[in-house]
Amino acid sequence: MIDHRRLRVALLGAGAVGSQVADLMRRHADELGDRAGATLELAGIAVRDLDAPRDADLPRELLTTDAETLIVGSDIVIELMGGIEPARTHILTALNSGADVVTANKALLATHGPEIFDAADQVGASVYYEAAAAGAIPIIRPLRDSLAGDRVQRIMGIVNGTTNYILDRMDAEGAEMADVLADAQRLGYAEADPTADVEGYDAAQKAAILASLAFHTTVPLQAVHREGITGVTKAMMDAARHAGYVVKLLAVCERLTGRTGLSPHGEAISVRVYPALIPREHPLAGVHGVNNAVFVQAEAAGNLMFYGAGAGGVQTASAVLGDVVSAARRHIAGGAGVGESTRANLPVLDIGDVVTRYQITLEVDDRPGVLARVAGILSDGRVSIATLEQTVPDPAADTGSARLVIGTHRAVERDLSETVTRLAADDVVERVVSVLRVEGD
Ligand code: NDP
Ligand code: HSE
Repeated sequence: MIDHRRLRVALLGAGAVGSQVADLMRRHADELGDRAGATLELAGIAVRDLDAPRDADLPRELLTTDAETLIVGSDIVIELMGGIEPARTHILTALNSGADVVTANKALLATHGPEIFDAADQVGASVYYEAAAAGAIPIIRPLRDSLAGDRVQRIMGIVNGTTNYILDRMDAEGAEMADVLADAQRLGYAEADPTADVEGYDAAQKAAILASLAFHTTVPLQAVHREGITGVTKAMMDAARHAGYVVKLLAVCERLTGRTGLSPHGEAISVRVYPALIPREHPLAGVHGVNNAVFVQAEAAGNLMFYGAGAGGVQTASAVLGDVVSAARRHIAGGAGVGESTRANLPVLDIGDVVTRYQITLEVDDRPGVLARVAGILSDGRVSIATLEQTVPDPAADTGSARLVIGTHRAVERDLSETVTRLAADDVVERVVSVLRVEGD
């Protein structure tokens, strides 16, 4: 190895990801040093419990419970504790003491990103966070660097492995959610409290991060419309399959142009997380198990798909170490930090203003005039029917009920939801079985 500068690296956290980062840093020290142009000296690892079992064999003398002392004097601080505090304070301390920061902390960046990026700007340091969205998949750097000369129009991501595992098994096996959720917990994909995953909070954090970067706009977490998968039933999955679709939890980040009420430039964005139908031939439909994928549509580049492991200790460590190499190079080069661009500052639309297609499934009375009545309500609500399928449970038995599956043309969400309310209240409608958005066609 050539003679390098030494950079002091502080690691905060030695859990699933941190222990793998420490292990890889130690095992691949020479290669990493050559790529970084500096000897990366792992100065210490801050943890809560010095005696907790670790996933990797780490020298006991590197462990400390005194994160503050470790941070001060470090050139690069890798934050892999998770959560808001003390991670936020440690990152601010690191930046203010001249370090560049690497973090995988999506919860922190989605809620305190602007504060952290401003602090980095003030001191000319950089914050790297490739692992904060979609784990091992390179997506932050492509959005920030590779596509810097293009205009991203839309991102559709499967960015939560736990929910993809659950929906994929429900689709493949006709399983019920409760059964596959229990398996996901047993296999260690879902936490004992799976709320952050199944209610879409984790995906919403990642959507806020991706949209901020793609559209040069600060996207607060509260501006992300979020729905989880707990309302998805086996019957919905079966119906989706029958109609040539699959249900996926999608993070959709979209640029909208040319509509009234948008920014002075006629543009706005929408950022939303919900379970949606996608055609079975769409590339995202082939994303199975705990894998993640991010489908990016850019004005000049066209369609791009980034696919792989969205979580896992060693997989995520790969993204973290890529950032450590970038941070080391920047630290040596000096000058201004990478910086986060919010120059566009586009308004984020309310979910009511979103325009997409829908599939509405109704149980209705099976008697003359019902179809006309339902069509009339849709027409009055400015919702145009694209496809319509009627089935009766048993034509010979004449149960008096029929099932209608209505595919709509693109409609405004506010119109659609008012129309569904009117349908639900109408005498001919026995039950609104489901309303799902259709994306990707
Ligand atoms: P873990 O919970 O496995 O590990 C957290 C580590 O931080 C532990 O070593 C813990 O110490 C230490 N820690 C927590 N709080 C403190 C504190 N107050 N003082 C000192 N040490 C503390 O988390 P993960 O490794 O799973 O995740 C780390 C980050 O990476 C999170 O932001 C997460 O969202 C992100 N991430 C994780 C992925 C994954 O697959 N796990 C994928 C993508 C991102 P001790 O061990 O002593 O308790
Ligand atoms: N709980 C997350 C998932 C881990 O299931 O994808 C990675 O952020």
